[in-house]
Amino acid sequence: MSKILVSFATMSGNTEKVAQHINTELPKLLPETQTSFVNMMELTEELFNEHDLNILGSSTWTDGEFNPISEEFFNRLSASTIDLNGIKFALFGLGESYYPEFCTVVEKMESIIKSKNGILVAESLKLDGYVDDNMLHSVTEWMNKFLNTI
Ligand SMILES: Cc1cc2nc3c(=O)[nH]c(=O)nc-3n(C[C@H](O)[C@H](O)[C@H](O)COP(=O)(O)O)c2cc1C
Repeated sequence: MSKILVSFATMSGNTEKVAQHINTELPKLLPETQTSFVNMMELTEELFNEHDLNILGSSTWTDGEFNPISEEFFNRLSASTIDLNGIKFALFGLGESYYPEFCTVVEKMESIIKSKNGILVAESLKLDGYVDDNMLHSVTEWMNKFLNTI
């Protein structure tokens, strides 16, 4: 039985839609999976070591920044003394390539997770534009690349 956390930080619901898709697909792709689906507003870093994999997603906001919800969480994580050594993560971000700082929240999340010794099990996923079937299909393909590593 694998335990997987899916957490999202959203302003207008797009990241939540992708997170919901991940949450629904996980037990289909990896039978015997138990998922925890948590709004990043309610996420605490202590939850990470209770899961075999932590999938975190956020949109990019205001010129390449975290959105206010992911900003609060990642600022707290960054300031904490937690050691994420051995704990696995997969990261995704939503944005629009129309902006010069496309999906840069992904690099910001990566850098904080790495600074706490967390393991990134896959290349992070950057998603561009509206949430549609094509986007959700690419999310499923991404999941297939790393689910066999846990
Ligand atoms: C005020 C504003 C600023 C944004 N800035 C960026 C940006 O700098 N880079 C980017 O890639 N997307 C940017 N976006 C696009 C959002 O990230 C995109 O619409 C995303 O799907 C929103 O997801 P959410 O509903 O989960 O917050 C911006 C959107 C708004 C409304």
